[in-house]
Amino acid sequence: QREKPLQGKKVVITGGPTQEAIDPVRYITNHSSGKMGHALAVAAKRLGASVTYIHGPINLPAVYGADDVAITSAQELFTAVKDTYADADFIIMAAAVGDYRCSSIAAEKIKKNDAVLTLELTKNPDILAWLGEHVSAKCVLCGFAMETQDLLAHATDKFKKKHCDLLVANSLKTSGAGFQCDTNIVTIISETQSEELPIMDKSALAYEIWERLIALHHKK
Ligand code: PMT
Repeated sequence: QREKPLQGKKVVITGGPTQEAIDPVRYITNHSSGKMGHALAVAAKRLGASVTYIHGPINLPAVYGADDVAITSAQELFTAVKDTYADADFIIMAAAVGDYRCSSIAAEKIKKNDAVLTLELTKNPDILAWLGEHVSAKCVLCGFAMETQDLLAHATDKFKKKHCDLLVANSLKTSGAGFQCDTNIVTIISETQSEELPIMDKSALAYEIWERLIALHHKK
């Protein structure tokens, strides 16, 4: 039980980027590699959980023993989350979700006739905020925040607005943190404190995050 504190628990983790189509050839995306979400899913499996890893287009091996759900757009991610969240004991939103999608997707490749091309974008649903309003009382909800300035202020704001139990904040401006790299440097925000952790491998960080999430679960 001590080595497998997540035995019998259902965990849903999202990771990687989303892609929002412009036309059949092009899309809008971001630099997420899926490594952070993957590390959290691998750790959850090792700790005994039943794991669903929902991810955008990534180049990583499937997490052994986990349910693997591949999505492309933010709306597909939202559907996959809605399909799995109801009986989850833990949900972690490590995915870098596109905040906007094209209002309409061109059926054919857009020709480069004009000097300026204007795309109209529509706001995507905020999945973490939706979860904050819909998860069961027993579920521990963990969000992430990726910032480029005023990390603590913006992340604390997200923690409050999205009603998470824990929020893991990282800055794109800090070297060794954030997108693509194997390490991360984070501040973990909870109701009672904000805790700065030193640089560590994403896999080591995953266990640090799990330790805190399991403690929060015990308090529920
Ligand atoms: O994948 P890697 O290369 O390993 O990089 C890891 C990471 C940088 C992607 C990860 O550590 C991280 O910070 N993930 C969250 C990125 C992000 O989208 O942050 P945000 O501050 O824009 O969003 C805040 C939270 O709301 C996140 O939990 C996000 O998943 C969620 N969100 C955002 C927008 C949206 N429409 N719906 C959401 O649920």
